[in-house]
Amino acid sequence: MKKPKHIAIIMDGNGRWAQERGLKRSEGHLAGAQTVRTVLSECVRHEIPHVSLYAFSTENWNRPQEEVNYLFTLFCEFTNKELPLMLKEGIRLNVIGEKSNLPLATRKALDYAIKKTAKGTNTELTLALNYSGSQEIIQAARKSAYESLCSPENLERIIKAAQNEATLKKEFARIFSETDYTEANLRKHFFYPELPDPDLIIRTSGELRLSNFYLFQAAYSELYFTDVYWPDFSALDFKLALDVYANRKRRFGKIDV
Ligand code: IPE
Ligand code: IPE
Ligand code: MG
Repeated sequence: MKKPKHIAIIMDGNGRWAQERGLKRSEGHLAGAQTVRTVLSECVRHEIPHVSLYAFSTENWNRPQEEVNYLFTLFCEFTNKELPLMLKEGIRLNVIGEKSNLPLATRKALDYAIKKTAKGTNTELTLALNYSGSQEIIQAARKSAYESLCSPENLERIIKAAQNEATLKKEFARIFSETDYTEANLRKHFFYPELPDPDLIIRTSGELRLSNFYLFQAAYSELYFTDVYWPDFSALDFKLALDVYANRKRRFGKIDV
C-alpha cells in the first residue's frame, strides 16, 4: 500500500467541538491535545517518517488574549507531560515558525524536549508554532537575495559602481538577472530545508483551506478534508485518510503510463 512519507495536519475544530457541548473553547483545546497523542502513536504504528502538526499560526495572535495564553500554557504542559511518550515511541521533536516571540516557558520546554528526543528514530514530529507560510517564503527570498548581493564577486562590482547611481542600478540589474534564483536556493532558507514536502495534508473540521500552512511545500500535496472536529479525530479516521491517500493517483504533471 502506498504510504505518505510526510503527513501534515491542520488540527482544526477544537472551539466548535467545545461550543457544541456547552464547554469553554479551552476545553476543546485540551481535548485536542489528547488527539495529538493518539495521532502520534498511529504515525509510529504505521511507520510514517514525518508528521507536521499546525498548532499556532501567526494569525492566531488575533484571538482573545485569554485563549492565546491558554494555548501557550497548554503547549508547554503538553510538551513536558508527553516527553516520556515521545521517548518511548522514538519520536523526534522539531519546531518550525518564529520562535523569538514565544513565551519563555514554552520555548524552554520545547528546546528541552527537542534536545531530549534528538535520538528518536521512528517518527519525526514537526510542530508548526507561530508559523506563517507566506512569511517563510518572504524571509527566504530576502535572505537569498542578500546572500547573492554579498558574494565576494558581487560586492566588488557594487563597490566599484557605487559612485554613480546609473552604473550602480545597472550593476544591480545585472546581479539580479544573472543570479541563480532557483527553487533550491530559496528552500535553503526555509525553517527546515531538509524536511520533504508533505505528501498528504489533512484538515479536520470541514474547512476547505490551508490557512497559511506550508504554502510553498503544498504544491503537489494530496489534500484530505474531513468534517470531523479535531478532538473527535480517531485512529480510525487517521486510517481512513491513509486509505484514501493510497488510492490517489499522483501525476506531478506527467501522464499515467
Ligand atoms: C484549532 O481549533 C486550534 C488552533 C487554531 C490552535 P480552533 O480553535 O480553530 O477551533 P474552531 O475552528 O474555532 O472550531
Ligand atoms: C488554522 O486554523 C491554524 C491552526 C490549526 C493552527 P484556524 O482556525 O486558525 O484557521 P481559520 O482562521 O479558520 O482559517
Ligand atoms: Mg479554527
